[in-house]
Amino acid sequence: MSSAAVAAKPILAVEHVAVHFGGLIAISDMNFDVREGELVSLIGPNGAGKTTAFNVITGFLKPTKGRVTFRGESLNGLKPHEVTSLGLVRTFQRTSVFEKISVFENVLIGLHRRTKASLLGTILALPSERRAEAALREEVWEILRLVGIDHQADEMGGSLPYGDQRLLGVALALAANPSALLLDEPVSGMNASETGRFIDLLNKLRANGKTILLVEHDMPMVMGISDRIVVLNYGRIIANGTPSQIQNDPDVIQAYLGQGVKHA
Ligand SMILES: Nc1ncnc2c1ncn2[C@@H]1O[C@H](COP(=O)(O)OP(=O)(O)OP(=O)(O)O)[C@@H](O)[C@H]1O
Ligand SMILES: [Mg+2]
Repeated sequence: MSSAAVAAKPILAVEHVAVHFGGLIAISDMNFDVREGELVSLIGPNGAGKTTAFNVITGFLKPTKGRVTFRGESLNGLKPHEVTSLGLVRTFQRTSVFEKISVFENVLIGLHRRTKASLLGTILALPSERRAEAALREEVWEILRLVGIDHQADEMGGSLPYGDQRLLGVALALAANPSALLLDEPVSGMNASETGRFIDLLNKLRANGKTILLVEHDMPMVMGISDRIVVLNYGRIIANGTPSQIQNDPDVIQAYLGQGVKHA
């Protein structure tokens, strides 16, 4: 763990969260936090409750019990777009890009959502809007360059190779100017070189000061990149520690062996 992360206060705290779906307990008494600048991975077998946890944190799902705080403020009752505007932004387990418009326009729309710059003013080409639009366009290029898909700016979102669509999903998340990013299985379905590019991107985002909470089944990646790992099994946290602590934790080994080696 970097010394900056040790010193920093929690930016995100999950406190006594439970989620029940009828009789199914998807999460029970979940407690963990993420400090500013830290990269924390949330791992666990299929159905352990990882995406459910993301849904609670980002306002897509109301917890049955407990609360989530971001920078000390409760997120309870906030809608997803309100959570986003506080700087806590997620990507989805499945890609969610606009397929029929260009990569550039995908990110531009994301920026318009954030800045509320008037699309009508842009269409009418008002001088003030033209200046604002030029600044937004420059910002689109910055995001595309950071993510490494600037050379595909004119291609349709839906025509990109799979790995690049996932990168575009991250670009859309970055358009909301997050301080903390929640990534749900970002490299699933990627080949080795796409995964390598994605790890490079994560390192760049960290160098830019982003806090990251990652859900991922790719264990070499998780072990290599995480400051800390939280392990979920059947909706309960069974371990929370550094990669080496987690790799040697008997409960964790048992949870994964019980599932077979597919996702271990
Ligand atoms: N909306 C819902 N209604 C009912 N049950 C749900 C709902 N969403 C999730 N579940 C159940 O809650 C449990 C946790 O699911 P969740 O999607 O959070 O798992 P996960 O850890 O993200 O798994 P995976 O690694 O496969 O993505 C599962 O048993 C799932 O079937
Ligand atoms: Mg999931």
